[in-house]
Amino acid sequence: MPTLTIQTLSTSYPVVIDEFLHNDTCITSQSKALIVSNPKVAGLYLHKVLPKIQAQEVFVCIVPDGEEHKNMQSIEQILQCAFANRLDRKSLMIALGGGVISDMVGFASGIFERGISYVSIPTTLLAQVDASVGGKCGVNNAYGKNLIGLFHQPSAVYIDAEFLHTLSRREIRAGLAEVLKVFVCFDEQAFTKLETLESLESKSALLPLIQRSIEIKAKVVEQDERESGIRAALNYGHTFAHIIEMQTHYKRFLHGEAVAIGIAMANTLAQQLGSLSAVDSKRISAVLARFGLDESYHIDDIEAFYQAFFLDKKSSNNKLRFILPEGIGGFSLRDDISKEQILACLQHYAR
Ligand code: NAD
Ligand code: GLY
Repeated sequence: MPTLTIQTLSTSYPVVIDEFLHNDTCITSQSKALIVSNPKVAGLYLHKVLPKIQAQEVFVCIVPDGEEHKNMQSIEQILQCAFANRLDRKSLMIALGGGVISDMVGFASGIFERGISYVSIPTTLLAQVDASVGGKCGVNNAYGKNLIGLFHQPSAVYIDAEFLHTLSRREIRAGLAEVLKVFVCFDEQAFTKLETLESLESKSALLPLIQRSIEIKAKVVEQDERESGIRAALNYGHTFAHIIEMQTHYKRFLHGEAVAIGIAMANTLAQQLGSLSAVDSKRISAVLARFGLDESYHIDDIEAFYQAFFLDKKSSNNKLRFILPEGIGGFSLRDDISKEQILACLQHYAR
């Protein structure tokens, strides 16, 4: 399998799609190394990863599992671990886990002594196709999701589909929502393959999806690392999803499940504004259904939901910004949608 390169203005790093767990790849630190994981992933894989770390000393920091622990308290725990074990500026942090771990390790390593390197070993499909690549990292707070953070690119990403063997079917399906997201916005041909994919969960079916998703993301990040334009398209569905996750206290839905609902909501708005036909909207819904991803959500208070959009990072000067599909394989960034049009869309989910 290939090694893809992510090239940004400031750095370049490899995303290696290979059998990391079974080949002779080692991760080398010029000083100490700190592996950050959670109890579940560490229990399954730490013993396999530890022998592959070459460093003066290797430390392990185990943070609690779950999106509800993606917060400043966990960042403080990681930093405490780094200081207590006297990591220095040549030390390396290593993220072993899903998107929650890679987002937090990217952030903690980015602020520890003004920034040290980190390597990501993503162990969920969602983290392999999206979260581990591209350098967006951070945590949630009481105001919303991913509102505190920075851009900090990893120095390498190692992807091994074997990690997915222990991942639940529900988690695999949630990861497929992020695959669908990039294909709808950037690659109609790849989307068409999703419509006919026979097996959704085998390694042979997933590997090409992982590779294509990263290829697309690499091109987007290379053009727009800090999301001043095209990168916003990677937030298709997320403007809605982040509010849904916050309102349900990060407990009811997996991130990918909320993204699936958000994609359906964005499609409702796109259809209303004429950028997505009913036929294409149905095709996207059919793929979500194939993945076992539910589109339903009840909005109790549409005005409160609307007001929550203003905390979205894409919103500025009191203007909301939405990513809407333009057919399949295209998208537009819209900041000209009136409150009435947005409320009309939300009304579909308030009945
Ligand atoms: P997650 O990290 O919470 O992992 C999901 C669950 O799977 C956890 O319970 C975890 O312990 C478990 N797990 C992980 N690997 C496993 C394995 N191999 N076998 C068994 N269990 C395993 O969730 P996620 O879906 O990976 O990531 C979601 C997060 O990623 C969200 O916080 C989201 O905001 C973030 N994200 C970030 C970006 C980005 O560009 N930075 C992109 C997409 C999503
Ligand atoms: N996952 C969205 C981004 O990386 O921009």
